[in-house]
Amino acid sequence: MAEDLMISSGTKTEQYQTLLPQIKALMEGEPDLIANLANITGALKEQFGWLWVGFYIVKQEDLVLAPFQGPVACTRIPKGKGVCGSSWESASTIIVPDVEKFPGHIACSSLSKSEIVIPVIRNNIVIAILDIDSTALNTFDTTDQFYLEKIVEMITW
Ligand code: SME
Repeated sequence: MAEDLMISSGTKTEQYQTLLPQIKALMEGEPDLIANLANITGALKEQFGWLWVGFYIVKQEDLVLAPFQGPVACTRIPKGKGVCGSSWESASTIIVPDVEKFPGHIACSSLSKSEIVIPVIRNNIVIAILDIDSTALNTFDTTDQFYLEKIVEMITW
């Protein structure tokens, strides 16, 4: 039985430091991937209030929409397309301060202004990505990258 999420205030670093052990605890003893991905998106959305937090899972030639919180989104993204497909292709985190300046950005919501995409890598292969959208410009930085990469490493796949 999950406890309510403890929403914290303070600096972004402090918020992540409170959130990380809670996300770890939520996943402990739960082997179901979809359940764990769903709770990660819920925890991040509740804590930070971003527009959209969700996973896409690599299936054959596409990233396919997986658990998310926020407005409805594109269901499939090919490798190399948009921010998500570029993160998959490069196997690296991409921080986009202004989505309008990212060539090929896929606009699932006109409200999205900045974005971060973190690849989930196992055995050197990208198997999914975590995508987060914000309604404000310049929302994400290397602090987000550091902690979000830690979160996706915690997922038992
Ligand atoms: N903006 C993403 C598409 C996914 S949605 O933001 C949920 C991209 O350019 O890949």
